[in-house]
Amino acid sequence: MKILVINGPNLNLLGIREPDVYGTDTLEDIENWLDNQSEASSHEINWIQSNHEGELIDQLHNSIGKFDGIIFNPGAYTHYSYALRDAVASIPIPTIEIHLSDINQREGFRKISVIKDKCIGQICGLGKLGYLEALKALTNYI
Ligand code: DQA
Repeated sequence: MKILVINGPNLNLLGIREPDVYGTDTLEDIENWLDNQSEASSHEINWIQSNHEGELIDQLHNSIGKFDGIIFNPGAYTHYSYALRDAVASIPIPTIEIHLSDINQREGFRKISVIKDKCIGQICGLGKLGYLEALKALTNYI
């Protein structure tokens, strides 16, 4: 299957950014790690990252007809972007939401995801393992 992994704002700074919260792996480390998992070997996995809401919307739209499923870490947009919620709802591609940290155990504003209910599910708090769990859940769903 063709899977698109979309990472939102500030995730380009993984490794530097609040390592006590997000760990010391860079986004590239996580990408390479996932690519080397046996569950990933039968899939074509593309990774993109953007700090811009409109770019994330364009990437979701452009995935129509190109990808079978999407793993989406919308970063802070998770908590307030109705435009990203609408974009996920607009495309006929199963999407799963993922967060490295446990958003339910952090500041109050992070407990809300306006995107979650347009996804097939949400995984959070497992660090990079969450991307693997998301891949398994998504491919199982498809
Ligand atoms: C995050 C959680 C968000 O609340 C935060 O704004 C991020 C990262 C995570 O992966 O844990 O940027 O999506």
